[in-house]
Parts: sequence; structure tokens; C-alpha cells
Amino acid sequence: MPAPQAVLAARVQDALTAAFGPSYAGADPVIRPSQFADLQANVALPLAKRLGRPPREVADAIVAHLDTAGLIGDVQVSGPGFINLTLDDGWIAAQAQRALEDARLGVPRTERPRTVVVEYSSPNVAKEMHVGHLRTTIVGDAIARILVFLGHDVIRDNHVGDWGTPFGMLIEHLLDLGEEAAARDDASVSDLTAFYQAARAKFDGDEGFADRSRRRVVALQAGDAETLRLWRVLVEVSKRYFNSVYGRLGVTLTDDDIRGESFYNDLLAPTVQELEDKGIAVVSDGALCAFPPGFTGREGDPLPVIIRKSDGGYNYSTTDLATIRYRVDTDHVDRMIYVVGAPQALHFQMVFAVARMAGWLGEEVEAEHAQIGNVLGTDGKILRTRAGGTVKLSELIDEAVERAGAAFDEIKHDEPFDAASRAAIVEAVGVGAVKYADLSVALGSEYVFDVDRMTSFHGKTGPYLQYAAARIRSIFRKGGLAPDETTGPITLTDPAERALALRLLDFGPVLEQVGESAEPHRLAGYVYAVADAYTTFYENCPVLKAPDAATRASRLALCAVTLRTLVTGLDLLGVPTPERM
Ligand code: ARG
Repeated sequence: MPAPQAVLAARVQDALTAAFGPSYAGADPVIRPSQFADLQANVALPLAKRLGRPPREVADAIVAHLDTAGLIGDVQVSGPGFINLTLDDGWIAAQAQRALEDARLGVPRTERPRTVVVEYSSPNVAKEMHVGHLRTTIVGDAIARILVFLGHDVIRDNHVGDWGTPFGMLIEHLLDLGEEAAARDDASVSDLTAFYQAARAKFDGDEGFADRSRRRVVALQAGDAETLRLWRVLVEVSKRYFNSVYGRLGVTLTDDDIRGESFYNDLLAPTVQELEDKGIAVVSDGALCAFPPGFTGREGDPLPVIIRKSDGGYNYSTTDLATIRYRVDTDHVDRMIYVVGAPQALHFQMVFAVARMAGWLGEEVEAEHAQIGNVLGTDGKILRTRAGGTVKLSELIDEAVERAGAAFDEIKHDEPFDAASRAAIVEAVGVGAVKYADLSVALGSEYVFDVDRMTSFHGKTGPYLQYAAARIRSIFRKGGLAPDETTGPITLTDPAERALALRLLDFGPVLEQVGESAEPHRLAGYVYAVADAYTTFYENCPVLKAPDAATRASRLALCAVTLRTLVTGLDLLGVPTPERM
């Protein structure tokens, strides 16, 4: 569907060339939101400078050549030379009607499909997922869903931390507990924090255990079969746990999407070799390092990316370089989106810079770090338990679901719910509340995890949006109608109908923008704006009790498009919409 902004821009461009000649073809008409009309074109001001003519005169000349037919209802020159443009009601109605009749709500598939890796969640094996992982998981999943909807080829990639020296002590601790403990999901193993801490304590306090652990690391790295088998037992325990979290959150990641650090183990040496061959990796203080240009320390000294430590071991950066190389060579991706916490920004900048030096990244293959801001407690500090530990994700969700239940019992319902239905709805509301709160914040910004605010049915919250969708469904139920069978035709008379329809037309452009910038909070904001426009419409325009049959049919159609836009938009954010509330 042509977005209002794009169609108007094309018309103003045509007027420009008609008025001033072909050398102005393709000039930016500077279409902006307007206080006085739907949009305004500001091109007359910069153009007047170039032409050495008064801006108002330039604006008048553009307007004189503007083809308004079927699109523009009113045009006014105001102020120093702004061109205020009001869309024709019939045009808006026709576009809304097209959205109604299209399964994709008029949102086109991209003309330039790309192969995109969205790397997200990426928790660490044998460690509890923390609230930072919550955000990368939720945001990454939304980005993946949106790109798929837009028609891109998306590879979801869960880059779990499943390799490294801690596995020596973790395997030895597992052996001490007895492997069966893992098989029967005994708390000594399945409580990952406790398991890790117990292993750590023995490592620090028991010399014999520490020795065994170190030998175990060597065996693991040498590919010893029995050691690898034990390592896999640990990975499986963690996967079960990750999947329980993903399942509860409605996150689309599966085991097939896991490509952890261990996957790249055999690729580290060849990657390093290539960097050496290309003269990018050089020995410095016994370690093999790359020095990407532009990165300096406090004293202006070049900052290294350590590629191989002086003891011969590889590290986190080496794995990330091997990962990029593999994705380019084998997956042939042309875009990589890393949904990872903001504290790792410098790491990624430097790794990307080295990858560019190696020619793995460049014009055709882009990598970007979607920096995720911290989640704070109500005290404004990084969210921690009272004892100062990391907060368990499952406990946060439990808390949200509990509060959602209390909030749910206070709102108006069309019908009483039995205990099982209530529990299912409340779970969806609690999870939706957490996810929407997380997604509505700009990526890099921190936010306060305030359960009361996020589970409220008022304001910019998940529950408010879910409720808005449920209210529309309830109109159709009351009218004995199905939203999908609504045919319109849509006509716009009331200003609230017009404002709602115009909002609905922005769905495609918003999604396109979110696909480019990988910023789901813009979609979160948009969905809220739709619900808001709907509320004003609903307060001003009776639907089932509309004055005549034609108005009723039109309003039902507007309700149907609004419902589908809300449900689709929320689904792309991964927020469920219960049928009834
Ligand atoms: N496992 C890491 C963590 O929990 C995140 C991994 C980020 N991705 C990457 N390619 N380095 O902090």
C-alpha cells in the first residue's frame, strides 16, 4: 500500500519538475508532519535560496503545478512558504479498504530480500539466564519476526556460551555429584546458579579438585571422547532450562537455532591463520594481536584485539571472528544483527573493524550491534536480589503474572471466567506485560523493571493493548459477526474515523523502518498509537448502534482492520493477544 508520505512526495516531486524544469527531478520534497494539515512539504525554503526567489513565490509555483486529483483534498501555503497538505478522505478510505481486503494488511514484501543473521539470547551454559538475557531474547525475537514478515531470509542464531575453561571444574563437579543427578533433573544440577557456585567454591578451596579441573580442560580441548560426552550432559541440562524459559516467553528459538561458541572450535586455528597470512595479526608481547585503526588507549597507544593469548589459548574475540568468517563464507549472509548488551559495544566495534580489515565485512556484508541497555531495579540500580545476587528470570515472570492476575480481576469483563481460562489469560497478560515493557524502550536506553506499571491496564502497556484487541473482538461477538467476514465499504465522515484510518495506513512504513533500523520500540509505539486512535474513535462513533446500515458496515470494517493491525503488530513483537478478557 502506498504510504501517504511516499505518495505525496511523488506528487510534489512531479510539481517541482513541472514548475522548475527537469534538473529538479529527484529533489527531496521535505515532507514532514504538520500541525495544521496531515503533512507539509517544506521544500520551497531551501529551493528559494537556490533560485534566489522569495520562498512564498516558490511555494505558490509548486502548488500551481501540483496534481491533487484523487489524493489531495486541500492544499495551503502558510508561513514563510510551508505547503500544508490535507489528504482526500476518499483516498484514505480506499487505502483502508485495500488493507481490509489484503491478508498482509497492505504491507508489501521487501523488494530487496537479504539473508540476515539475527543473533540473540545467547545465554551461557551452566548459568542461570539473567535479566540482561531477558531483554536480548525478547528484542532479538521481535527483530527476527519482523524481518521474516517483511520477506527477508532470516537465520536465528543463539550463540550460547558453551565452551571455555570453566567446563573443567563443572565436569569434575558433575562427576562428584554423579551423572545420574543430571539425568533425573536433581536440583543439585538443575539449579544452575547453585551448581556453578558449588563447583567454583571447590575449585578455590580444594587444590586436588583444581588440579583435576585443569586437566579436564586440557582433555576437553584435545577432544577426549569421554570428556566431550560429559560436557554434552551439561549442555543438555542447560538447554532444557533455556527451552523452558523460551517456551514460557513464547520465544521462537529452538535447539536447531543453537550454534554455540563450541561450534567454532575447529575453525579458530584456520581463522587465525588467515589473519596472519593477511598480515593483520601480529605478535605483540608474546600474544597474537590485531590493531584495528582508530582504537587507542588512554595514552594514545593502539588498542589490541587479542587473537591468541601468549599461552596459545584462544578467546572470546577469536570465536567472534571465526563466527563472522563462517557466516560470510558458508551461510552467505549479507547482514548480521547482534542483539547483545551495551557493555559489549567496544568488543564488537573492534571485532567488526578487524573483520573489515580481513575483507569479511564491507559494503555488501554489514554487521551491527543492537546495543541493549541495562534493566534497573526500582532503586535505579542494576536489578539485583536483596542479597545482591542476579535475579532469576523465572521469578520475575512469576511476579509479573501474579500482579497481572490482580490487575485482571479489577477490570470489566463481558463474562465470568472459570479458573483454568482465567489462569491462561493471566499468564498471557503477565508475559505480554513484561515483553511489551521491554520492547517499548529504545534499545540502548536503560529502563526500570517496575512490575506494577507494566501490568497496569492503563497507559502504554501490554495489558492495555491486549484489552483493546479483546474489546474489538467482543463487539463482533455481540453483533454475531466475524471480523474476517467484514467487507465494508469503508467511508469516512467523522474526524475520529479519519484519524484512525490514517493511522492504520502507517503500518507498512513503520515496519519497513523497523526492518531497516532493527528498532522494535518503534513498532511498539505504533501499536499503542493505533489503540489510542481507536479509543477516540470508539468513544465518538457508535459501531453496532451506528445511525444507518452503511455507517455501521464502514465502522465494523474499521474495527476489523484495527483488530488485525493490533494483533499482527503485537504478534510481531511476540506479545500474545487473548481472544477474550
Ligand atoms: N554469552 C554472552 C553473554 O552472556 C553473549 C554472547 C554475545 N554474542 C557474541 N557473538 N559474542 O554475555
